[in-house]
Amino acid sequence: MKVLSFGSLNFDHVYQMHHFVEAKETTSSLSYQKGFGGKGLNQSIALAKSGIDVYHAGRVGEDGQPFIDYLQKYGVKTDYLKKDVDEVTGHAIIQVCNGENCIILHGGANQAIDEKQIDDVLQHFSSQDMLLIQNEISCLDYLIRQAHQKGMKIAFNTAPMDEKVFKYPIELVDIFIVNEIEAMGLAKVQSHDVDDIIKGLQDAYPDKQIVLTIGSDGSYYIGSGRVIHQDAYQVHAVDTTAAGDTFTGYFLASLLRDESIENALRIASKASSITVTKDGAAQSIPSLQEVLGSL
Ligand code: RIB
Repeated sequence: MKVLSFGSLNFDHVYQMHHFVEAKETTSSLSYQKGFGGKGLNQSIALAKSGIDVYHAGRVGEDGQPFIDYLQKYGVKTDYLKKDVDEVTGHAIIQVCNGENCIILHGGANQAIDEKQIDDVLQHFSSQDMLLIQNEISCLDYLIRQAHQKGMKIAFNTAPMDEKVFKYPIELVDIFIVNEIEAMGLAKVQSHDVDDIIKGLQDAYPDKQIVLTIGSDGSYYIGSGRVIHQDAYQVHAVDTTAAGDTFTGYFLASLLRDESIENALRIASKASSITVTKDGAAQSIPSLQEVLGSL
């Protein structure tokens, strides 16, 4: 099975901050770094690093060649990545403070993905393949419908969570990968209590596989009447950017390698615990060797 990761690519402008900037305030950063990111790109890199055959489809602006080079360096196939002269490449302004982040997104070319591009890409995939998506590109409604019609298995990381998610045909999704806030939105529960969130997800999506990550409280697999918990590995986090993306890529890769759910959670938790100890997005995603070597 190959994976089609159809998702965003962003230039990440990362500012280490003393505190997050507030309304009416102008403040200086402690440092600045530019790197490769976008939830789509990060998840493609995580899948590729864990040894999966992954094709990244998406859209960048005229200045997007560095993304193609970067993805190829890690073995991601870029045949379906399109350069668009009329759009700017997506970018993110990321403030990092005490290990946490705050992100402003500008979608740019990520939001110019259209039905034609989707048709062009999907003709190369079949019911043997998996589609992985996040909520940072346009035309997801059409993409989900067409991929389902082809019989592809669909994994949806509903990040960043917003009302648009409910306009998509999410009943056609097979696997949801969500953090606490995304899960509360998806299940429409107000409570932050993990048992309430799990119950809400089970009630709303009884026939789906759901992976729920709760930061330092670990992660859960919810599906086929089972709930499986994995503790988080305790580390000192310097930057949580791309932790969720690493988890998503490593979890799906482990499933595709026929690991048990327990092992998939364990490997994905370990991988994301390494990511948070490093600065930046894609650059902080560990290799499979690093992950397995420290389990
Ligand atoms: O999940 C982290 C990513 O979110 C960053 O790389 C940024 O580009 C935003 O898409």
